[in-house]
Amino acid sequence: QADETVTVNLFVNGEPRQLQVTSNVVLLDALRDELHLTGTKKGCDHGQCGACTVHVEGKAINSCLRLAVMCEGQHITTVEGLARNGELHPVQRAFLDHDAYQCGYCTPGQMMSAAALLEDDRIAADDASVREAMSGNICRCGAYKNILEAVQDARQ
Ligand code: FES
Repeated sequence: QADETVTVNLFVNGEPRQLQVTSNVVLLDALRDELHLTGTKKGCDHGQCGACTVHVEGKAINSCLRLAVMCEGQHITTVEGLARNGELHPVQRAFLDHDAYQCGYCTPGQMMSAAALLEDDRIAADDASVREAMSGNICRCGAYKNILEAVQDARQ
């Protein structure tokens, strides 16, 4: 039943969290509406824009396409969890240094994809490979040049 309320246990940014959600609630809405972690953005709500990107078990995923109940027991990192011990993540630092945003709406998703990319040594160092790896994140302002520079800088 889609409207059945279920209990979901997650680790969000290192903290154990328990949610009561209906079984059709996607992770994006659970994070924003239940946990008030509104850094993760809703753009298309259809897996096309990447604004909702978070890490589940260290992998970047579109949280608008993942049911919250499917994440039982899993570790989720949102943009709020990217900085550690009061230090910006290298990707956050690089986005600042390179002005890699305009309106900023896509920025959390861009940074989560970039942070996952930094951990993935299968992605080659050239610009074309980084562009391809980041191609699921759309920036309607067209700040791609600076985003690419930031990701490449963070990768150094
Ligand atoms: Fe999830 Fe656009 S809101 S991909």
